[in-house]
Amino acid sequence: MSNLMTRVFLQRLPPKLCAGISVGSNRYKHSHWEHHENGSSERHWVYSRNSAVAGLIGVGAGVALWLNAHRSAEAASLLTTDQEVSAFGAYRDGLPEYTLDDVSKHASVKERVWVAYRHGVYDITDFIQEHPGGDKILMGAGGSVEPFWALYAVHKNPHVLELFEKYRIGNLSSSDVGAHVKDMDDPYGNEPRRHVALKPSSKKPFNAEPPLPLLADNLITPNELFYVRNHLPVPDVDASTYELDITDEETDKEKVLTLDAIKKYPKHTVTATIQCAGNRRSEMTRVKAVKGLSWGQAAIGNAKWSGARLCDVLKDMGIERDTTDALHVQFEGLDTDPANMPYGSSIPIEKALDPYGDVILAYEMNGETIPRDHGYPIRVIVPGVVGARNVKWLGKIIISKKESDAHWQQNDYKGFAPNVDWDTVDFKKSPAIQELPVISAICEPLEGGTVKVKNGKVKLRGECLFHS
Ligand code: MTE
Repeated sequence: MSNLMTRVFLQRLPPKLCAGISVGSNRYKHSHWEHHENGSSERHWVYSRNSAVAGLIGVGAGVALWLNAHRSAEAASLLTTDQEVSAFGAYRDGLPEYTLDDVSKHASVKERVWVAYRHGVYDITDFIQEHPGGDKILMGAGGSVEPFWALYAVHKNPHVLELFEKYRIGNLSSSDVGAHVKDMDDPYGNEPRRHVALKPSSKKPFNAEPPLPLLADNLITPNELFYVRNHLPVPDVDASTYELDITDEETDKEKVLTLDAIKKYPKHTVTATIQCAGNRRSEMTRVKAVKGLSWGQAAIGNAKWSGARLCDVLKDMGIERDTTDALHVQFEGLDTDPANMPYGSSIPIEKALDPYGDVILAYEMNGETIPRDHGYPIRVIVPGVVGARNVKWLGKIIISKKESDAHWQQNDYKGFAPNVDWDTVDFKKSPAIQELPVISAICEPLEGGTVKVKNGKVKLRGECLFHS
């Protein structure tokens, strides 16, 4: 069966037709359960060949995802070298000189907002009023933005720096240059070790995908080759003191679960694909410029996830469909930004309460303790739903009438029509992506490779006949 699932045999299919996104309308029809004697159960989500073929012809559907890049990752499409960015923030002749003390007197819009970056002093008042991430930039107001850019290293790319340079008003006095970074710990100093085969599209935060042929080799993606999508440094969570807080805003009920307590719930295993909304963005960029990390075709992986069903945990708190008026389940990660704001997002409560929705609090990935990069010790798995809602390092669950107000729910991971661009986009006008269609891709031969024709047939290998 795995051969059937992982290999696509298509007769003389023009390669261009292979750049599609499947509609996946029959996604929930092909699942089966395995029940085990110890009360646990395992569900497999299987996709028919039809959904794969739909994927091959659904070329147009991809455009809706073009704008779902993280706003803070704006223009972060390239890994940059220090050389590429060194031209920015360099000393410029003929500009007035300011000390950090001068800069500190401009920490609010009223006094105009100044910041320092390397040798440069910038007045960014006008910039922040137009930029949706303005509140984050304000954290550097009246000082150096370097500590913040060390965290959001994706900003350090030529496009952003060029834009920034337009707001240049002076040079920082040489005795103050670097003063803010000297004692700064690298927030990415405690990242997990990664497999050398993973190809990064950004190193800080770490985002990487495996080579395509390796992805196609395995129906179940090995943990060490599973793509990684992080927005912040990976937290180092001590499982012995780990606690998951669950709050019901409707009733004010609270529950705190340790890892052991989560493990006491019946263990369920789901085979589910996780896919980043930006998967294959590098190809979309060839049709129309798209902002965000330049993913290839492998920001997708298929794993067996095991853990407690969220509906069982919520039922224990008395939260069931007929007992709650809540509409959303919000998740917060333990990874935080410099303002201590966690990564967060939410899903509709129907999905969480549906016993067939298979939303689980996973502590195992492919039979092993979930690796740090993938959410150790607990991540939520939401089958069928875009990767962004599968929150890793889960710290908090909030049952609410409201969607998460996190940046990643409100100003990111949304789809827009192709005519919308960064100048006209209004994030409030579009719903957060939840269910995400499968993207199919030909993994072999690779682009530019040679196609062998045998008896009038061409053998291709592809990805993603399984879907969460
Ligand atoms: N959860 C937290 N806490 N922090 C994150 O940065 N990234 C999300 C999601 N969950 C993220 C997160 C995104 S955008 C994706 S695509 C998936 O995790 C990636 O999961 P993976 O790294 O295990 O492949």
